[in-house]
Order: sequence, then structure tokens, then C-alpha cells
Amino acid sequence: MTTALPERPPTTDEVEVGLNAVFNWNYSGEVEQLRTLYANALDRQWIAMRDLDWEQGIDRERFSKTFSIGGFPVQKTRWWQNLDPDLRWKISSQSSAFLLSNFLHGEQGALLVASELVNAVPDMDAKFYAATQTVDEARHVEVFAEYIRLLDEVNPIMAPLKRLLDATIASEGWMHKAVGMNVVIEGLALHVFRDMRNTTEEPLLKQLLTRVSRDEARHTAYGVKYLSHVTGTLDDRTRAELEDFAFEAARMLIDSRGGSTMRDAMLAVWARNGLDPQGVFVELAAEREKMAAELQRTGGVHGPVSGFVIPTLKTVGLFSERIEGHFRSMFAANFGEERARQLEFKDGLPDDLEAWVESGA
Ligand SMILES: [Fe+2]
Ligand SMILES: [Fe+2]
Repeated sequence: MTTALPERPPTTDEVEVGLNAVFNWNYSGEVEQLRTLYANALDRQWIAMRDLDWEQGIDRERFSKTFSIGGFPVQKTRWWQNLDPDLRWKISSQSSAFLLSNFLHGEQGALLVASELVNAVPDMDAKFYAATQTVDEARHVEVFAEYIRLLDEVNPIMAPLKRLLDATIASEGWMHKAVGMNVVIEGLALHVFRDMRNTTEEPLLKQLLTRVSRDEARHTAYGVKYLSHVTGTLDDRTRAELEDFAFEAARMLIDSRGGSTMRDAMLAVWARNGLDPQGVFVELAAEREKMAAELQRTGGVHGPVSGFVIPTLKTVGLFSERIEGHFRSMFAANFGEERARQLEFKDGLPDDLEAWVESGA
């Protein structure tokens, strides 16, 4: 006997979608670059449960050894190395479950938006491509959920990320959706996944992030190629609106409130495992200089926004002087005037984003 499903499971949450579904009666290719990207995407499909070696499980020792907190290489501190290995595993697995859960929820957001784009984009090649991205995102939800299951448990979504996903889903035009998702969210995700992929020595996580990042490189390339194709023809008002939307999206993710959510989650993990958070800060502060030098050496000073999202906005023609001023004020509020003034925003992105994923290891 089958059990009846509830009309709406208690774990769901509804957001109103803003879009018009667009038919296009012209079936011959119009945007060659997107057709090529679609062909590549078909060629590079993979199957989560078959192509990753789940049997090996998680290597706890290597996982704990390569655990960092938001780019801060905590694993290199004496404090961390002196902790009991069991405690190191507990802290690293629980903290990572928090971070990976937010990747997971972000992937679900990407799944929803990619499927919206199938409807909303006007060009057939762009619809074809968005259909492949929809499958990619389903697979990403699948792999992150499975990895977290081996690690700990799924944590709730961070409020700033939920706000950003909601705003992207609710936005009306396809360009807003592509800017919110393919440029800002996926640009940040690609940067962070690649970083983690190159840092971690945990074999299953490395395999997983390599595969996911290659897909994400295509998703960013889609946003870049498609938007570059149209931004030149926009009137000033529409372009300014898109720039504002991109800026707001980036701000939601990195402003100080977003930072404190992350910090609070880490503090809760330390406290849950019997450590005094204040004491940990004192220990870490003592090694701060050494760590700052390490960050400088590895290029970690360039966060994902200044190092990747802004170069992407420049590439697609959505980074006017006006919006640069907004970004500088935001950086000044978060990191201080001095650092904001010194920030230089790189021009352009690597030509081959897929190859870039595996460089710099
Ligand atoms: Fe994804
Ligand atoms: Fe994606």
C-alpha cells in the first residue's frame, strides 16, 4: 500500500517567481557561442553516484588537516595542530557541515533559477544551454547532500543567502536573474569551490569539487557570454538597474551581517565542543601575523568579490564609475578606508575558466 503524500511537505517554503515565459519560433541557431557551450555541457555530463568514489568515505585525518575558516588557514596554526585529533575532526566536520550546507542550499537556488531561465530567455540556444544547467544543478544538490550526510547533518540556510536567492527568483527579467545567479552567486561559488578544491587533501571532497567546479565554470561562462552579447544595446536606465542589482547581490553576501552569521556559527561549534570561544580568539590572535603573511603569499587577500565578481562585471560591461564608487564604500565599511583605497580591481577573466579551475593548486 502506498502512503499519500501531503499536499505541501512541512519542509517547503514558497517564493513568488517573477517572469514571463517566452516561446521562440525560430529554431535555427542564433547565438553561436551559446550553442557551443550547450554542446560542451552535453559532452561533459557525469553521474553523481557512478562517477565519484563514494565507497572510500571521508578520510577524517586529511579532512581535519586541510580545514580552513573562510580563507583563514587555521590548520596551519600551532593551536590547531596541538588539539586532540578527535576534537579536530569534530570541529572541522561540524564547521564544514555549516559551510557545505549553505553551498547545498545555494545549489538548490541555482536549480530553481536555471529552470526559470529556460522559460525566461528569448533565444533558443540560450534555452538549450539553461536546460543543461538545470541538470547540472540537480546533480550538485545531490552530491552536496550526500557528502554532508557522511560528515554531519544539514544546517539551515544563512539569512543573507536566502534573501539573495529570493531576490533573484522574484526578479522579473532574465538579465536580472543571470546577473544575480550566473555572475554574482556562481562567480562567488566558483571562486570558493576552486579555493577549497585546491586546498583540501581529502580525496572524495577533492573529486567532488573538481567535478562541480568544472560545471560552475560553464555556468559563469554562460552569464558572461550571453550578457556581453546584450549589454551594449541597453539604454542607460536599464544598464544602471542591472548594475545596482549586481551590487546589491554582492552586498547581501559580504556585508558585515553576512560575516557575523558565519562567525557566530563557528563560535557555536567551538562552544558545543567544550572550547571557550574567547580563549580561541586569543590563541589565534597570537598567530595572526604569521597567518597574514601566509595569506599574502597565497594571494588570499583578493576575496571572491574583488578578485572575481568585479572582473566579471567589468567583462560584461556592468561596472561603471558610479558602481565602482558603491563597491569601494562597501569595502571601506567592512575592511576599513585604507584597504578599500588600495584595492585594485583586475580586468578580465581567464579565457578558459574550466582550465583555470585546476590551475593554481
Ligand atoms: Fe551548481
Ligand atoms: Fe551553477
